[in-house]
Amino acid sequence: MQLLKDRIRRDGKIKAGNVLKVDSFLNHQMDIELFQEIGREFRRRFADAEVNKILTIEASGIGIACVAAESFHVPVVFAKKTQTKNIAGEVYTTKVESFTHGRVYDIIVSKEFLGRGDKVLLIDDFLANGKALEGLAQLVGDSGAELVGAGIVIEKGFQAGGERIRSLGIRLESLAIVESMDEKTGTIVFRGDES
Ligand code: G4P
Repeated sequence: MQLLKDRIRRDGKIKAGNVLKVDSFLNHQMDIELFQEIGREFRRRFADAEVNKILTIEASGIGIACVAAESFHVPVVFAKKTQTKNIAGEVYTTKVESFTHGRVYDIIVSKEFLGRGDKVLLIDDFLANGKALEGLAQLVGDSGAELVGAGIVIEKGFQAGGERIRSLGIRLESLAIVESMDEKTGTIVFRGDES
């Protein structure tokens, strides 16, 4: 998505450790007109799928999922993150390991909001190692709902997540795939842009 790539090049900041900061428009301050374009692009890419629910994860997936949901005319459910170990009751739950934060946490979704008959699109802002997305796919499977695919705003193509998710047979649509970034020169290479 050219508009998004241009914005990342203009306003993204490359930090040490291959971190791309996009908090001026994506995951702290949010540019809602850009989000609307992103939502329409997800809708275009998944036009053939009869999505009836969007599933994301707190925190920064929620904004983009909500705006995308306007294009699909479907509700959004967000998985909650909790460190509680004794989760009981009517929830689907699985564990997610965060490499970045070096911890394991539980994600939960109430059984009331996900189940057989649902056609679910996963939406998130970043795909890095892919553990969060894998956890969401697990919850969808456990619920008996159908996983239609996953829409990601920025995939870090040099980390393992994209390959892992695709190898699981999940249809993955990433609107910008960063192949490499250079902290010193500020250069960002996107997949498809290599000459
Ligand atoms: P993953 O396996 O789910 O891909 O997660 P990973 O541990 O690799 O990344 C941890 C968190 O850091 C994730 O957010 C992810 O979106 C975010 N992240 C990874 N790489 C980058 C990056 O280059 N730039 C930015 N801005 N974020 C990155 P999270 O912990 O789920 O937090 P949040 O959604 O509550 O913000």
